Amino acid sequence: MSDLSTIRSEVLGAVEQAADLAALDAARVAALGKKGSVTGLMKTLGSLSPDERRSFGAQVNQLKGEIEAALEARRNDLSASALNARLAGEKVDVGLPPRPESQGTLHPIGQVMDELAAIFGEMGFTWADGPDIEDDWHNFTALNIPPDHPARQMQDTFYLPKRADGTPMVLRTHTSPVQARTMLDKDVQKMLADGGSLRIIVPGRTFRIDNDATHTPMFHQVEGLVIDRTTHMGHLKGCLVDFCRAFFEVDDLPLRFRPSYFPFTEPSAEVDIGCSWKGGELKIGAGDSWLEILGSGMVHPNVIENCGLDPTIYQGFAFGMGIDRIAMLKYGIPDLRSFFDADLRWLRHYGFSALEWPSLTGGLGR
Ligand code: DAH
Repeated sequence: MSDLSTIRSEVLGAVEQAADLAALDAARVAALGKKGSVTGLMKTLGSLSPDERRSFGAQVNQLKGEIEAALEARRNDLSASALNARLAGEKVDVGLPPRPESQGTLHPIGQVMDELAAIFGEMGFTWADGPDIEDDWHNFTALNIPPDHPARQMQDTFYLPKRADGTPMVLRTHTSPVQARTMLDKDVQKMLADGGSLRIIVPGRTFRIDNDATHTPMFHQVEGLVIDRTTHMGHLKGCLVDFCRAFFEVDDLPLRFRPSYFPFTEPSAEVDIGCSWKGGELKIGAGDSWLEILGSGMVHPNVIENCGLDPTIYQGFAFGMGIDRIAMLKYGIPDLRSFFDADLRWLRHYGFSALEWPSLTGGLGR
């Protein structure tokens, strides 16, 4: 009898401690194999009396059943952990392989604005801003634009609901209202009274009711304004010649100043740059054609007066230019509408590195 319980605890202990399937099988053979301890007990049955045989046989059978159940349970445990170990060892990485970090690009409009800031910054200009939603007075009246001027018509300007006080509001049709906003600024007026010189550029969004390959309802302009007591037409010319040559990176770029008319300047000039069209391809520089790129002039005395300054003391020049247009010309971008399509492939092609700040010494574009 003691044999039975000793064998029982030995065998169950061995099963319990089997560290892997091979050890478990060894424990099974040691108990139930041909020469196993439990098999040995079975073999003793024959030498027992029928009564003893019945009761001992039942106990041995029960032990056999117990051992088989323990073997089965341990086998399940071991196979599960063997499977887990294998799975851990053979882990498949379903993540994406490492790729170069994706880097965004600057839109050509932002790039050109930075180039404008770099060039005019060197000439002592600062960057000024104004609201996209402008009142009729700043957009038109202050700038000497008469009530019957075509720019004021419904089909050219986006009119917005009037303010509560009845002020007509528009989406600004040009960046010129920032001229008025700046000249009216008390700090600016004090600086001018102290003998200073006002020099600003105003890059920003503008809006007109226009939509085709070369016009979009929203576009960009840059305004320039210089006001002091002595600035004259020669300065206007020198400033714009220097700007165009720096911007287009053509040192001997020819410029043509053509007499023109704007309500807010007198005299006024439109500026063309030299170019050629060889084989249908535009080349900026000396050539037999001209491309208009901006409007300019000496600020009209009425504008100076409307903006709270004495036109017998102060004078200066202004200019206005389409940023989208000069970006298209400089970077060979054929369709204006593509600027606003938010197409990533287009941006990857025409975009600029965000890490290279344009400068006159380090290089402006690519
Ligand atoms: N505001 C004009 C336009 O939108 C552009 C312009 C022309 C601005 C001459 C100026 C200027 O300051 O002097 O067409």
